[in-house]
Amino acid sequence: MDLLNIENLHARVDNPDGQEILKGLNLTIKKGEIHAIMGPNGTGKSTLTKILAGSDEYEITQGSVNYNGEDLLEKEAHERANEGIFLAFQYPVEIPGIATSTFLRHALNAKLRHNEKEEIDNLEFIKLLRQKAKTLKISDEMLKRPVNVGFSGGEKKRMETLQMSILDPHLGLLDETDSGLDIDALRTVAEGVNYIHSKEKGFLIITHYQRLLDYIKPDFVHIMVGGKIIKTGDYKLAIELEEKGYQAYGV
Ligand SMILES: Nc1ncnc2c1ncn2[C@@H]1O[C@H](COP(=O)(O)OP(=O)(O)OP(=O)(O)O)[C@@H](O)[C@H]1O
Ligand SMILES: [Mg+2]
Repeated sequence: MDLLNIENLHARVDNPDGQEILKGLNLTIKKGEIHAIMGPNGTGKSTLTKILAGSDEYEITQGSVNYNGEDLLEKEAHERANEGIFLAFQYPVEIPGIATSTFLRHALNAKLRHNEKEEIDNLEFIKLLRQKAKTLKISDEMLKRPVNVGFSGGEKKRMETLQMSILDPHLGLLDETDSGLDIDALRTVAEGVNYIHSKEKGFLIITHYQRLLDYIKPDFVHIMVGGKIIKTGDYKLAIELEEKGYQAYGV
């Protein structure tokens, strides 16, 4: 069954002279599949992920997005999150004044409430958080600090992965989660994704480098240029890209 079905999506920046960024994008992710998108800078990859997560920076001018058989574009950002969409940002935001552990507990409980499940109590949550944080080499001290404030680039990316593993999404969107990670952290983050992945779930992974895909095996690799997907292949396409660059695809 399709988890995500994007048809002929056109979107522009939502201001009076906002340019069109997505120009007829089609993409279907079935349950259990991992898709990777690669593409030159400025082709709309992050825009796509932000639109899926419910950003109000963009206006959809044409096309449709279905998630689990429902119209995703009708839903507010928080509903999408509560219904299993998670975006690991290319540039994670700092949230001063809110401790990471508090932020994550509230996010998880909001999701549990939305899905009519029992909330997790504080002690149980701390146990879960410590266990997940340990595998991602995130210290207790970091969990007490405000979300992302003063974190290094790689620490922010690991924090995104921790958020993802706590919220356990149905559709994980990873926007360059590998950038800025050291070699060990890259492997740890990939293990995190592989651990969460199941036949009920889907992932969309944006990356500039084939290396991440050595650890997270995609079922499909897409090349995105000029606001749409121009070529789709399997893992070999990522290797080919690394060798030939985008020029071979008319960029
Ligand atoms: N809110 C916005 N306001 C103005 N321009 C925007 C906005 N969002 C995106 N753009 C423009 O849309 C284009 C696509 O941006 P986007 O961030 O989606 O690219 P990308 O494919 O993720 O690139 P990169 O590989 O560098 O991360 C860029 O030219 C960017 O400047
Ligand atoms: Mg981007």
